[in-house]
Amino acid sequence: MTSKTDRLAYDVDSIVRADKEYLWHHMKPHKLFQDQEQMIIVEGQGLIVKDIRGKEYLDASSGGVWSVVVGYGRDSIAEAVCAQLKKMPYFAGVVGNVPAIQFAQKLIELLPRLGKVYYSNSGSEANEKAFKIVRQAACINAGRKGRYKVLYRDRDYHGTTLGALSATGQAERKQDFGPLCDGFAGFPHALCYRCAFDQNYPGCNMACARALEDVILKEGPDSVGAIIVEPITAGGGIIVPVPEYYPLLESICKKYGVLMIMDEVVCGFGRTGKFWGHDHFDVDPDMVTLAKGLTSSYEALSATVVKESVYELFLNDPADPADRLNYFRDISTYGGCTSGMTAALESTRIIEQEDLVANSRKMGAYLLDRLMTLHDLPLVGDIRGQGLFCGIEFVADKKTKTPISEKTMAQIVAQVHAEGVLVGRTNTSLPGNNTIMNLAPALIVTRDQIDQMVTAIKTGIEKIG
Ligand SMILES: Cc1ncc(COP(=O)(O)O)c(C=O)c1O
Repeated sequence: MTSKTDRLAYDVDSIVRADKEYLWHHMKPHKLFQDQEQMIIVEGQGLIVKDIRGKEYLDASSGGVWSVVVGYGRDSIAEAVCAQLKKMPYFAGVVGNVPAIQFAQKLIELLPRLGKVYYSNSGSEANEKAFKIVRQAACINAGRKGRYKVLYRDRDYHGTTLGALSATGQAERKQDFGPLCDGFAGFPHALCYRCAFDQNYPGCNMACARALEDVILKEGPDSVGAIIVEPITAGGGIIVPVPEYYPLLESICKKYGVLMIMDEVVCGFGRTGKFWGHDHFDVDPDMVTLAKGLTSSYEALSATVVKESVYELFLNDPADPADRLNYFRDISTYGGCTSGMTAALESTRIIEQEDLVANSRKMGAYLLDRLMTLHDLPLVGDIRGQGLFCGIEFVADKKTKTPISEKTMAQIVAQVHAEGVLVGRTNTSLPGNNTIMNLAPALIVTRDQIDQMVTAIKTGIEKIG
């Protein structure tokens, strides 16, 4: 029998060679790396990851895209998944399975104003389901007839598939992938530091939120079905809207019968110091999409969670020939994998049992405080965040807020990595402004680890700046 160690054994040099020969990394300008060895991560424990050459890093990015919320090395998730796989790995989601049912029940306990859970495999796909719900409802429900359009916010990201990309407010992510889908239109972002209306909060009359109404009127209120927003913009540069923002957005949506889709793919599961990102605001979304922290990324799973009133739009009579196709005709093969829901149940149990949302709130406040000590350094323009989700925006000139060059930004990030801390940054998203470093450590982070992160960032800025 092959032992566990045998199965995981490899020869380092041949893996390094094979990486170059066979693997096309995500979001990677490979030409730049033709003569360089790239990072290969082989182990993780808590917040520490080790690369194939044995170098250890403190991961301040929760796996690069803010998703390993309970940290690495959680045996209980692996064991729960293993037991479930042995018992029942898969049956298509056209039927129920026990972990799917149990986790759906758990999600509705955590999102009590919503009523039904629809599973799929990635954040992009969870958003695609939400768009399909909007579009199909616009065909089959008299009250929503023709309301197929979805409005998205500038700087928000909603995924890589063509629909989700069409609903993304980041020009560089969309560039060269056209023609994109019809039926999507943007409205302004909510970042005060670079106010789209050249105003100063609180004397701004919330122009950014009010602009949604202008876009609805321009697009035609009878054609707009929904808006999609991240509660706190993630990849677009860590943007925390002011408290009045969402109530105003919601009142505009209500006025025109427009649904609100809240993309909690990044913010959900405690990232921002409350269980849900939208818990920071007085807002009541009609649909919530989830992925990443849902399983702490130990398995691939996403969910589209909807209000009972949305679900009911699809409760038509299949025996009636006129209604025959008027149920939600959508399926994802892997939406029936039991391992995802099992990992999600265990990851969520850990978050609750270890009170990790409280730790995110407490350590998040400490992280922001410590980052603020960097404010007077050259190149530091703005520092912002909520919970364990913080960003530093770099500028060449603090007065004019001119962003630093991409090259300098890359050098700062590389220097912080060289100091042994993995941080993220805006990455080919915002033309001329991919200059925001982001920190999103696992929710188990300690004060000492935060000190280590801030010291590495300070050194990185001082060495490059
Ligand atoms: C807010 C948000 N929504 C959706 C997605 C897409 O998720 P996935 O990469 O799992 O498709 C992302 C990915 O980073 C995201 O940040």
